[in-house]
Amino acid sequence: MSSSVVNMPPRGDAGADGPRAVPGVKHLIAVASGKGGVGKSTTATNLALALAAEGARVGMLDADLYGPSQPRMLGIAGSPETRDGKMEPMMGHGIQTMSIGLMMDDDTPVIWRGPMVTRALQQLVYETRWDNLDYLIVDLPPGTGDIHLTMAQKIPVSGAVIVTTPQDIALLDARKGLAMFKKVNVPVLGIIENMSTHVCSECGHEQHIFGQGGAARMAEEAGPRLLGELSLDIRIREGADSGQPVLVGEPAGSLSRAYLGIARSLIQALAVLEPTSDVKEARSAVPEILVE
Ligand SMILES: Nc1ncnc2c1ncn2[C@@H]1O[C@H](COP(=O)(O)OP(=O)(O)OP(=O)(O)O)[C@@H](O)[C@H]1O
Ligand SMILES: [Mg+2]
Repeated sequence: MSSSVVNMPPRGDAGADGPRAVPGVKHLIAVASGKGGVGKSTTATNLALALAAEGARVGMLDADLYGPSQPRMLGIAGSPETRDGKMEPMMGHGIQTMSIGLMMDDDTPVIWRGPMVTRALQQLVYETRWDNLDYLIVDLPPGTGDIHLTMAQKIPVSGAVIVTTPQDIALLDARKGLAMFKKVNVPVLGIIENMSTHVCSECGHEQHIFGQGGAARMAEEAGPRLLGELSLDIRIREGADSGQPVLVGEPAGSLSRAYLGIARSLIQALAVLEPTSDVKEARSAVPEILVE
């Protein structure tokens, strides 16, 4: 990121009344996991495209400041333009996108402490000129750190989606993610099980490489609905790596249908879980911890 972006004052800071609305955005939806590498970014990309295929105006905020994935996954190159003090989002397959990866070369690591990360994230959110979005999908890094706290406390997130594999170790971390959102009063809209089954492309044999049914059990125990299951499929990986996600490469295929089903469940979950004024009050009352 250019030094001017890092050093500018955080205009999106939470005021006394809690997080202020993000201009041009109706709903912010955070995609989180707990454990790393379970497919958050890939799922976020395809989910954004599925929501757009359903007729919504969709944006993507890459909140993984330490390891941004979205420019590659959405096939975007170059740098965003700045006009009248705001950054213009870059378009990837019709998705308005902003990522720190668009401002740095691929080999430069981000080495920042918490407060810098908090400020940079707020700037990406509030100083991008989002154009009339129904949904801004936020691709979070793994874990439950400064970036998650900033999202929860300083930015008006409508709800979070937890991505997990069926594997016990991933579910353990996903539960921590769930607990974190609960603590900061961000509604969890549902759980997505990624890499559920693998069908061999040679022989058609079905295997549950990471176990079976873990997310469904977690949804039953913890409350949020299971939004859907996605198989472990080489086309998903190839699409993500090449900037041609399956929703673009095979929009009518079975993998895309699975993402479209999840997008519809998400829209339903959001319709029932819109934050009430009580929830907003509770969130603004959350004590300031760790960040700034
Ligand atoms: N359903 C799937 N089938 C096949 N490959 C997948 C699937 N989902 C994700 N992948 C692949 O798994 C790898 C990890 O995915 P991704 O980067 O989306 O995970 P992540 O949870 O965002 O990781 P991080 O925690 O590092 O941000 C990538 O190579 C991606 O292409
Ligand atoms: Mg990621």
